[in-house]
Amino acid sequence: MPTYGFAKASPSLALIKYWGKSSKENNTPATPSLAVTLAGLESTTSARFADRDQVVLDGKVQDPAQHAAFFDLLRAELKTSQHFAVESANNFPTAAGLASSSSGYAALTGAVAALCQEGLTPNQLSTLARRGSGSATRAIYGGFTLFDAGAEAAVPVHDEAFWPDFRVLIVTVRDEAKAVSSRVAMEQTRLTSPYYQDWITSSAALLPRAQAALAARDLDSLGPLVRMSYLRMFSTMFSAEPPIIYWYPESLGLIRTCEELRASGLGAWETMDAGPQVKIFCLAKDLPAIKTAVETRYPQFKTLTSQPGPGLQTWTGDRL
Ligand code: PMV
Repeated sequence: MPTYGFAKASPSLALIKYWGKSSKENNTPATPSLAVTLAGLESTTSARFADRDQVVLDGKVQDPAQHAAFFDLLRAELKTSQHFAVESANNFPTAAGLASSSSGYAALTGAVAALCQEGLTPNQLSTLARRGSGSATRAIYGGFTLFDAGAEAAVPVHDEAFWPDFRVLIVTVRDEAKAVSSRVAMEQTRLTSPYYQDWITSSAALLPRAQAALAARDLDSLGPLVRMSYLRMFSTMFSAEPPIIYWYPESLGLIRTCEELRASGLGAWETMDAGPQVKIFCLAKDLPAIKTAVETRYPQFKTLTSQPGPGLQTWTGDRL
């Protein structure tokens, strides 16, 4: 047995959003999601056997209760009674709506599986990662991925080389951790939003249109669908009891900026997740002008540029 299992995974950013669970116990989604895995943003994780389970994230020991059920599940699936000491680091802000739970749980699953040398298939890893976080199900694969409503695993749709001109500009509006986790917010939405059923029905209808636009590499068709997906998702949150509002004034300011950029002929199509950050999909040719416009209006915000990236990578070794 090696001393360490290692893994590296990148976040999965949804074009068509997953929001709400069809089974709370199994963590299966109520809506289908279509996503891109982001190059250059990485969770890097090591796992070794230990006396008790522990997760250290970006140098901070995490509350064991947060991961207890997931470690029990990993032990059952990997047929071991051992406990794990896991260390993970993100090279981007944690828990602030940049989908760090997707790369975090994908890398945790990969590192523990590598340590146990179980030789799991990507489908098995995706199935396992789902129990940690829904979006982690997708982050096992690179390029563009689909996680269907009710599914236990994601499937790869197009690899990372499929759309070489596709870019994402990430604008970090706030880098502190969010107040309400996506898990809690989703459940609150399911239980209380009067629009929840319509959200599920309308998401299912958006998916084939988005898949066709993606297959055609047609951002002018994909962009409006991306916007409808995230804005309908937030409509269920705004209408929950109590309402959930992740946005800051500057988030809306950036939505307006994208509107203006589109009016000037630039293809800037924004999306948001469970946090205040704004991510803008565009083509490589428009990226410099969009980046300049955003940085001129919001010089205080950090921006990151990304594009379709690789899926989970795992390896083993005897030293850190
Ligand atoms: O699986 P979680 O808890 O990371 O939830 C993901 C929810 C969204 O990021 C808002 C949408 C998505 O499909 O990634």
